[in-house]
Amino acid sequence: MKILRSVSEVREELAGYRNKTVGLVPTMGYFHDGHLSLMRQARAECDVVVVSLFVNPTQFGVGEDYDKYPRDEKRDAELAGEVGVDYIFAPPVEEMYSEGFGTFVEPSQELSNKMCGVSRPGHFRGVATVVTKLLNIVQPDKAYFGQKDAQQLVIIKSIVRDLNIPVEIVGMPIVRERDGLAMSSRNTYLSKQERKQALALYETLCLGKKLIAQGSRDASALKKQLVANLSRKPGVEIDYLEIVRAEDLKPVERLGGKILLAGAIRVGDTRLIDNMILEV
Ligand code: PAF
Repeated sequence: MKILRSVSEVREELAGYRNKTVGLVPTMGYFHDGHLSLMRQARAECDVVVVSLFVNPTQFGVGEDYDKYPRDEKRDAELAGEVGVDYIFAPPVEEMYSEGFGTFVEPSQELSNKMCGVSRPGHFRGVATVVTKLLNIVQPDKAYFGQKDAQQLVIIKSIVRDLNIPVEIVGMPIVRERDGLAMSSRNTYLSKQERKQALALYETLCLGKKLIAQGSRDASALKKQLVANLSRKPGVEIDYLEIVRAEDLKPVERLGGKILLAGAIRVGDTRLIDNMILEV
């Protein structure tokens, strides 16, 4: 497995694979089984697998965790090598944002000004910009993203559609710890007590699933019940809990079709997200 640092190196390396399928797994590193599941899927479906490893400064707001975001390139390279990745693209910040950089991709306001976008203004603009750059640099046939970032996935699909980017976006299921906590590089921030408290969001999503299975169909009544449940959990501050249409994040009143139950909480200094897609 080769580690590439520059756009020109990526272009040179991939020029040799004109008639092969290229899979891209965009990541910010500090790999866990969620990342590895994306890489395994790419490995199974594509001739060449490129993993980008870049903690993207433009998607972090002031006071967020850009500086302390966990980084361990050596460990990441070992793990990626074990699952058969061909290339890691790990550029320095100056390679992605050279002096004078000033072009950003502004995703649909309708998709980005809600849920995570409310407490993280500018976040999806940063994601949209870096993902568009990565797709332009690698020009993959397929790109793999985790369903845990459900809003990000919907936004990326809309960018690819709106800007006619010739790539298939593949969404992969959430990978969970044994007790149900969604895997996240940010879980490493949690103390032992916070780790237990963090389960509250998953438990609330499970409650939502159960209530829907029992016939609950009024979205605002269900949301009230779930918020009440979550606000009783110790150590947890609710950022949001939403019930929306899975395809386009539009609000729903009466539950039906494919719906997304999604939330974000703060446990201590750590912000965590999770979601479930339910067929009603
Ligand atoms: O989901 C992530 O890890 C990041 O938002 C992504 C897609 C790699 C862009 O920096």
